[in-house]
Amino acid sequence: MTMKEKLAACTKEGKALLAVNFYNFETLKGLLLAAKQTNSCLILQLSESSLQYLGIQPAVAMARVMLKEFGVEGWVHLDHGSSIKIVTKCLDAGFDSVMIDASEKPFDENVRITKEAVKIAEHYNANVEAELGYIAKLNQSHTFEPTGADDAKRFVEATGINALAVAIGNAHGFYKEIPKLRIDRLKEIRAAVNCALVLHGSSGIPGEQLQEAIRNGISKINLATETKNTFMKKLQSLLAESDEIDLRKVFPKAIDAVKDLIVRKLDVVNV
Ligand code: 13P
Ligand code: ZN
Ligand code: NA
Repeated sequence: MTMKEKLAACTKEGKALLAVNFYNFETLKGLLLAAKQTNSCLILQLSESSLQYLGIQPAVAMARVMLKEFGVEGWVHLDHGSSIKIVTKCLDAGFDSVMIDASEKPFDENVRITKEAVKIAEHYNANVEAELGYIAKLNQSHTFEPTGADDAKRFVEATGINALAVAIGNAHGFYKEIPKLRIDRLKEIRAAVNCALVLHGSSGIPGEQLQEAIRNGISKINLATETKNTFMKKLQSLLAESDEIDLRKVFPKAIDAVKDLIVRKLDVVNV
């Protein structure tokens, strides 16, 4: 199944896919171990900074080979693509799905850029996600207006996207206080549009709220910060405990910590 088809099926059935960012071979391996253990499928996401770090071709090749190696059904997605240029590059490299994020632009400009991405992605039969309303980036304050249902309807109809990232009290990175998602607003948006709805900023959102969001129409759950944090915190403690220089003896424990985290998240999302 293509990611476009899978996401549409999930939206219809009221289910959700976990979409996790990876940064290197080790975090990727942790994700796949978790998906295999729980018999789940998974979206593997890369931000532009991860693509800069890994290289687009090596990143997508590594993700594909590892999915095959582990016998996991999964897809490769560009997270928060900031330009048509990066969207095109990723589609050319074989990504299943791209996000074009022009959410900081005025509505009409966001529509124009997103429409262009949709037009290009058609040739690849790729999934296109865009963002309306603004989801705070890492370390920004979290006081943003939630996405409006009427705007969402206008936006989805004007652009033809398959997936819409919504701002409903969610934010990237950890939260200062436990967030309270605007499920009322989510319901309004869900009633107004047909495409898949995406929850960004899932690190720090309690499991019950993730499940409530899924029950009310979210079908893609984006997770990044907790993965990075889990891997690095474990690595820091391993390095503090010993002066082992054989990285193949050190990394597996950090990979396992990522696996455990993602197994827990998959248990929440796959209900
Ligand atoms: P978190 O870093 O808060 O998990 O958000 C991830 C995300 O939205 C990736 O697009
Ligand atoms: Zn995001
Ligand atoms: Na978050």
